Amino acid sequence: MMQNFTYNIPTEIYFGKGSIANLPSAVRKFGGSKVLLLYGGGSIRRIGLLDETIALLTKAGIAYSLLGGVEPNPRIATVREGIRICREEGCDMLLPVGGGSTLDCAKAIAAGTPYEGDAWDIVLDNAKIDSIDVLPIITILTMAATGSEMDGYAVISNPETKQKLGMGHLKLYPKASVLDPVYTYSLPKRQTAAGIADILSHIFEVYFNHIPGTVIQDRVMEALIQVLVECGPKACKEPENYDARANLMWTSSWAINGFIACGKSAPWPVHSMEHQLSAVYDVTHGEGLAVLTPVWMEKTLNERTVDLFVSYGVGVFGLDPTKEKYEIARQAIQKTSEFLFETLGMPKTLRELGITSKDAFEAMADKALEDGTEECFTPLSKSDVLAIYEASY
Ligand code: NZQ
Ligand code: ZN
Repeated sequence: MMQNFTYNIPTEIYFGKGSIANLPSAVRKFGGSKVLLLYGGGSIRRIGLLDETIALLTKAGIAYSLLGGVEPNPRIATVREGIRICREEGCDMLLPVGGGSTLDCAKAIAAGTPYEGDAWDIVLDNAKIDSIDVLPIITILTMAATGSEMDGYAVISNPETKQKLGMGHLKLYPKASVLDPVYTYSLPKRQTAAGIADILSHIFEVYFNHIPGTVIQDRVMEALIQVLVECGPKACKEPENYDARANLMWTSSWAINGFIACGKSAPWPVHSMEHQLSAVYDVTHGEGLAVLTPVWMEKTLNERTVDLFVSYGVGVFGLDPTKEKYEIARQAIQKTSEFLFETLGMPKTLRELGITSKDAFEAMADKALEDGTEECFTPLSKSDVLAIYEASY
């Protein structure tokens, strides 16, 4: 039965070419007097977006501080540095410009600046955010992938403890996000594909945690996956195809903004397993997910899940519904592999991601279990998780 839910997405979206023009009024509307403009390793400088953003702020008389160099899989040390700048330079709003890593880093800074203790405490215990006046966040997105532009999550890495942990709170939703597909034109094919695999996984994590009765969410999810299958290869082949980029960008937001998960709840097993890979080996999130996904699908195909795989295969790939159900399910998994590894050309094994030893698998499996893989729709024990890592190797 569809569970009760509260639906609340408190993020204003400015979508489309030139929509950055809304930035100055949004900063004022959400109370920013000085923003911390945060960015990654330099891609926004190369595409002229850093200069464009600074020019807009300057023209509108909005003060700013800068923090560049946010790393993919953002580190707690960078969060601490952002907190220091906000406190010392009086920033009262976060303006991350970049991909999910930059946005996530900004969210942790937004919660950590008013918090008296160390920021890692908040990552470990999200309930601490209940009593914190989180600084407002406005994002400018340059990569369709995580959906961080329209959700209340952030994922932060701590290399010292080899942990990569998610934090989530209603107060972490951006107040507003600028989604201009043109900013994603410069994404290399590899990152475009990684983003698509991430979006796909966000949908799978919900779709394959089926609770009967959520018909609207299920059919919307199939449609969102079809958008990825249709527009993903176009964006890889023609990086400046506006409509392909626009549809990917909007799908990234809708895959995780809460709508498809209405009436459902369950842990996200593939993300739990992937976050251990990123924590130990610093792999690209979407690539880690792509490697694990088909293996996980095979592991979870059983009498309880087979009908879901049939719905997926028929609904997304138009497979023949009159065939025997396990045949359809296996074809659906095969189609998923073909899309990821042949059409998008993504790495297929952990070795291809540069992982050359299995030594850490045991400890990684323990940590994945702490995230609740045993409570999934298809429960995954420690030996199941280990088997998935082994088969992905
Ligand atoms: O650092 P720069 O120079 O900007 O380059 C980035 C980075 O190297 C580059 N890039 C981004 N936009 C570009 C571009 N290059 C050229 N042109 C552009 N327009 O792409 C690389 C990857 O960027 P990153 O921000 O790391 O990618 P993504 O958006 O995939 O974010 C990944 C992080 O988000 C977390 C992941 O675990 C990972 O740490 N996640 C966050 C979630 C959330 N907040 O809800 C959910 C996800 O499941 C995920 O776990
Ligand atoms: Zn993800």
